[in-house]
Parts: sequence; C-alpha cells; structure tokens
Amino acid sequence: MDNTVTGRALGKKLLRVLEGKCETIPPVWLMRQAGRYLPEYRSTREEAGGFLKLCFNPELAAEVTLQPVRRFGFDAAILFSDILVVPLALGRKVEFLVGEGPKLEPLGDAAGIAALRKTIDVNVLAPIYETVGRVKSELDNKTTLIGFCGAPWTVATYMVAGEATPDQAPARLLAYRDPESFERLIDRIVQASIEYLIGQFKAGAEVVQIFDTWAGVLGPEQFERWCVAPTQKIVEGVRRQLPTAKIIGFPRGAGAMALPYVEMTGVSAVGIDWTFERSIARDTLQPRVPVQGNIDPLALLAGGAALDREVDDVMKELGGGPLIFNLGHGILPATPIANVERMLKRVRG
Ligand code: CP3
Repeated sequence: MDNTVTGRALGKKLLRVLEGKCETIPPVWLMRQAGRYLPEYRSTREEAGGFLKLCFNPELAAEVTLQPVRRFGFDAAILFSDILVVPLALGRKVEFLVGEGPKLEPLGDAAGIAALRKTIDVNVLAPIYETVGRVKSELDNKTTLIGFCGAPWTVATYMVAGEATPDQAPARLLAYRDPESFERLIDRIVQASIEYLIGQFKAGAEVVQIFDTWAGVLGPEQFERWCVAPTQKIVEGVRRQLPTAKIIGFPRGAGAMALPYVEMTGVSAVGIDWTFERSIARDTLQPRVPVQGNIDPLALLAGGAALDREVDDVMKELGGGPLIFNLGHGILPATPIANVERMLKRVRG
C-alpha cells in the first residue's frame, strides 16, 4: 500500500500545504509535541516503565502519539519514538538514563565501524511499525500522520560520542581524521534510514521528517558532505520505491546553507529554526518549497506578549506562502500548557 498518494489527502491541511497550497490558517503541529510538558505523557511513560520501553510498546506509544492531538487538535500526529532506535537496529547498545539523556557505546574507530551490521534488524523496528498502524487507524480524516528518522549526521554524532555533546566534537574529529571510515558509518545509517522510512510509509505514515538537529555545527564543505549528500541519498532511495513520498527536511542551524540544502536534497518542505531571518525564508525558500517553523521554544515557554509578537511575525512574514506553523526546535518540558493554547488561539483566530 502506498500511503503517499494524495487522492484521499484533500481533507488534510498539512498535505495540501505540502502540495504547495497556501492556507489562510496554516496547519500546526509542534516538534516533541508528545512529551514531558504533558501530565498524561508522564503518567503513560511511568506505566510503560521508562522512555525506551514506551517507544517499543505499540499500545502505549500510540496512546502518547495521540495525546497532544486530542488535547490541542493539532493538524498532525508525529509518531512517538526516537531517532536512536536506528543505532539499536544496527546492533548498538542504547540506553536512556533518567535526567541524563541517551547513553550509547561509543563508536570511535575504523574497526568498530567495519563491524556494524550491514542491514537493520527488522525485529527491532517491528513494534514501531505496529505503533504507526495503530495510530493511523485511530486518526480522523483531517489529521496527518508524520513518521521520522534522524539524519545520518545527527545520528552519527550520538553513535560516535556515545552521548549528547555540546559541540559534536567527537564526530567532527573522526570525520576530519578518518573520512573514509566516517563515510562508511554515514552510508550504513543512510541505508538503514531508507529502509526504516519506507517501512513507516508502508505502515501508514503519510509524511516523514528527517531531523538534522546538529547540521549547524558543520562548515560549508562538511555540510555538503555530511548533511546534504546523505539526506539527498535518503530522499532518492525512498522515492525510488515511493515516488510521491513527502519528506520534510529539518537542517537545524543551516542558515545560509538552507537554500543549497533545499535545492540539492529534493525535500518536499524545509524546517527552519528561530534564528533564521523570516523575510529571507519567505524570499528564498518559500518560492521553492513550503517552510515549517519557527517559533523560539523559549518564547513559547515565556508566553505573554513575547509569544504573541513571535506568532504575529511568523504569520506576517511567512503566512502569505505555503507554511506549516511549528516551533524552531522541540517544545521544552517546562512549557505551560496554557501557552500552547494561547499560541493556537492566536494562529487560528
Ligand atoms: O516529536 C515528537 O513528539 C515525537 C517523538 C520524538 C522524540 N525524540 C521523543 C523523545 C522525536 C521526533 C525525537 C527526535 C530526537 N531524538 C531528536 C531530533 C530532534 C531534536 O529534538 O533535536 C534527537 C536529537 C533525539 C535524541 C534524544 N532523545 C535526546 C538527545 C534525548 C534527551 C534529551 C531530552 O529531551 O530528554 C531524547 C529523549 C526523548 N526523546 C524524550 C522524548 C519525549 C524525553 C525522554 C523522556 O520522556 O524521559
């Protein structure tokens, strides 16, 4: 089954925008919309017995995927999972320690990279496809289901360092010192991601997003090699099997490289963070692809007049073209629910 065909999609605002239409009231969803700022999420995570157990429990993962849609009426549900399930499916150990974030066994040398699995372990990802199918069967005909993966560069930063780092130095160093081995690692993640995204589409996802959270630390030459080229391969690989696949790219921090990213990768839409000048996004990106973004998550946390100003500015600068209203990065755990409601009211009038 090809869920990317658009015939049945006409009732879905987000899919219309991805076809290039401009909506008076843009579709809205938030990165990390299922998360710790919601009491119902915290309670379901506890029931599951931890974050990774939640990711691999289709019934409960489907439940937390739907929670923010029920509460706020978002135009999209994003699969509840994590980008680090791909390293798991490549045979690496991945844990999430409470309050500390992800811990993986670091992968620092050519021998370790050469020893990685050649293909993903489908048994690891099967429960995630089941979650996608469950969510799809429960969504109404207005809400779009978004799947996702991490971009190879961002996933590699965690695989190499074994944890979150302030500057992604371990991966950047490996890429300078041993680019052949690093390229081998990136290629493994590219192949795994193609298979994983196709699996999500086949299970019911209508759109996927490629999260390149750490794209912004790469210089222009490195950006082309480690962010653009692998993303382009994923887009091409997915569309070889699903020619109409809708793919949102989110190269966070790309700045001036966002335009070449759009032109070279072939993504269907581009996510921008809040540091991106909105009038430049309007003039350079929006003529080519729909733009997604870009409220500062801290403005949403702060609320009040600062939030209203941000919302009005997004609508003024980007609301005249194809726009998917979103944050510039994930919602923060301390965000008051009332601020999310305030933002939605202002966008939707
Ligand atoms: O957006 C959604 O609601 C869907 C679910 C989703 C999660 N992670 C759930 C999650 C998505 C799309 C992601 C993507 C992800 N995961 C990224 C790219 C986007 C981004 O935010 O930069 C990255 C870099 C990761 C890796 C990751 N997962 C880190 C570094 C952490 C720890 C930091 C943190 O926020 O705690 C996670 C944990 C994580 N992933 C949580 C959630 C809801 C919090 C864990 C918890 O509930 O205890």
